[in-house]
Amino acid sequence: MRALLPLLLAAWAAAAPTATKKKPEPAKPLTAAQKADYAKVIQPIFEAHCVSCHGPKKEKGKLRLDTLEATLKGGKNPTFVIGKPNSSMLLARVFLERNAGDVMPPKDENPLTEKQKEALYAFVEGQPIPDELAKAAIADTKKALAAPKPAPKPKK
Ligand code: HEC
Repeated sequence: MRALLPLLLAAWAAAAPTATKKKPEPAKPLTAAQKADYAKVIQPIFEAHCVSCHGPKKEKGKLRLDTLEATLKGGKNPTFVIGKPNSSMLLARVFLERNAGDVMPPKDENPLTEKQKEALYAFVEGQPIPDELAKAAIADTKKALAAPKPAPKPKK
């Protein structure tokens, strides 16, 4: 009987990891630095380019991007998991070609700049947004806020 115990323990230890692997990983809470990056760089991008359709007035795709909590909650679909940029639906749509039907913001809106997109990517990657990139993205966001909205296309 004594001899059996180590064997049972070994079998249990081997089985346990597979049993826990099936559960989805819980999202890690954001660090203070990530929250600061969000507030300084990411939220202003969403305010300038997304919140008119994804905020308190309109919730297109059941998605709001006006707070960090709402952004992480997602809409009809999940937006992103920090650390997994390549399976993020939000990033996928932002990085689409401008002539793609699903691109965000939609075709007739002011597009995001490369720097804004790179900052967003770094944030979702879970990396601190490098200072230079953060500055460039913030400058682009300010320009976008000052720019006139593109004129609506004449209805066909
Ligand atoms: C002019 C309005 C408008 C703006 C501005 C806009 N969107 Fe959207 N968005 C929509 C509409 C309409 C849908 C729902 C239909 C669809 O999924 O294409 C949508 C859907 C989405 C979805 C999918 C939601 C889901 O859960 O299925 C994401 C992600 C998204 N938008 C991200 C963004 C981001 C990020 C921005 C800013 C960079 C943005 N959108 C700006 C109109 C807009």
